[in-house]
Amino acid sequence: MDVREKSVQLFFVSTLMYWNQNQNNRSMPWKGIKDPYKIWLSEIILQQTRVEQGLAYYNNFVKKYPTINDLANANENEVFKNWEGLGYYSRCKNLIATAKFISNEKSGVFPNTYEEILNLKGVGPYTAAAISSFAFNLPHAVVDGNVMRILTRFFGIDTPIDSTEGRYLLNELAQNLLDKRKANIYNQAIMDFGATVCKPKQPNCKTCNFSENCYSFNYSTPEAFPKKSKAKAKTNRWFIYFVPVYKNKVLVGKRQQKDIWQNLFEFPKIELNEFPTLDLLYNSQNIDLIKKMNLIISEIPPFQVQLLTHLKIHACFIDVNLNKKIQFKHFEYVSPESLKSLPFPKIIASFIQSNNFQKSS
Ligand code: ADE
Repeated sequence: MDVREKSVQLFFVSTLMYWNQNQNNRSMPWKGIKDPYKIWLSEIILQQTRVEQGLAYYNNFVKKYPTINDLANANENEVFKNWEGLGYYSRCKNLIATAKFISNEKSGVFPNTYEEILNLKGVGPYTAAAISSFAFNLPHAVVDGNVMRILTRFFGIDTPIDSTEGRYLLNELAQNLLDKRKANIYNQAIMDFGATVCKPKQPNCKTCNFSENCYSFNYSTPEAFPKKSKAKAKTNRWFIYFVPVYKNKVLVGKRQQKDIWQNLFEFPKIELNEFPTLDLLYNSQNIDLIKKMNLIISEIPPFQVQLLTHLKIHACFIDVNLNKKIQFKHFEYVSPESLKSLPFPKIIASFIQSNNFQKSS
C-alpha cells in the first residue's frame, strides 16, 4: 500500500477516531487527566512495563507522593523500595533526579513545552510526545511498539523497525497521520487500539474496522509485522553471592557502579562471565573475598535466572555464618527487619523472601 496516498491516511485516522469514540472501553487511572506530574509518572512506569503490572505501582506512587514535591523530598531508599519488582532501575533513578530538578529549580511547576519535556532525564521522544500531548494537547505523535506494529501492518511496511531508515519512516508517517487538534485523544486511541485489537499475537482482525484496507490482513499475515533485523543474543553474567551473617545481622551493600541495578542493594559477590566451576571461582580476581571470610567452598549451589533485555543473569547464594565481623567498602550489617525495607533486584528479593535470617551464628 502506498503510505503517501492521502485517502488511505484519511481512512486510517477517521477509522481510529471512530473506533475510539464508539468501541474503546479501556479505562486506566491516568487516561484523560491533565496533571503533567501524574502523566509523567505513568509514562515512566509504562516505559518497559505492561499496564496490568504498572497499575498497582502507579496507584501506590500517587498515594504516597501526590505531588512532585512529595516525590522530590522522599527518602531515596524508600522510593527504590516502592519501585522494587518493576525492573529497569535507571528509570527510578531518573524519576528521583527529575522530581528534585523540577521541585528545586522550577518551583515545582512541570515544564509545558515539548523541547523542555524532552530535556528531562529519562524522557525520550516517545515519552515527551506522550506527556506534551496528554497534558498540554501539543501536536506530537507518539511512536512506541504499539504504534509501529499498527502502522507496519496496516500500511504493509517491511523496513525493519530497528533500523535508522525504519525509525525515520515511521516517525514521519506517524506525525503526518496525527490529528493535530486532538493530539491527546488520537495518541491515547492508537495505543489503546494496539493493546486491545491490533495485539502482538492473535490480533482481533475479524472484528477490526480497519481490515478492508489493512495491507497485512489482505495480502500477508498481521503477525508477520513489524519486521526486525536479527535479534542480538543475550550476554550471560554469573553472580555468586555470599550471604554473610554475623550475630543475626546480614552484610549488604548498595551497588555503586554505573551498571544494571545501580542504587539497589546486594550481598558481596564474585562475578564470572562463563559458567562457574570451582577452579574458575578460585582463580577469579575477587578471590580475596573468599579468603577474608575464611571460606572453603566445595560446591557451587544451583543458579536462579533473571532475564533482562540484553542480559541473562545467573545467581546463586552461599550462606556464610561469620564468627568474626569483617568489613567491605560500601557494605554494612543490617537486621532482618531493615533488610525488608531495602530495595533489591528481583532475583535477590526472591532469595530473601525464602530465607528468614533468624538463625543465630
Ligand atoms: N503505554 C504507555 N503509555 C500508555 C498510556 N498512556 N496508555 C496505555 N498504555 C501506555
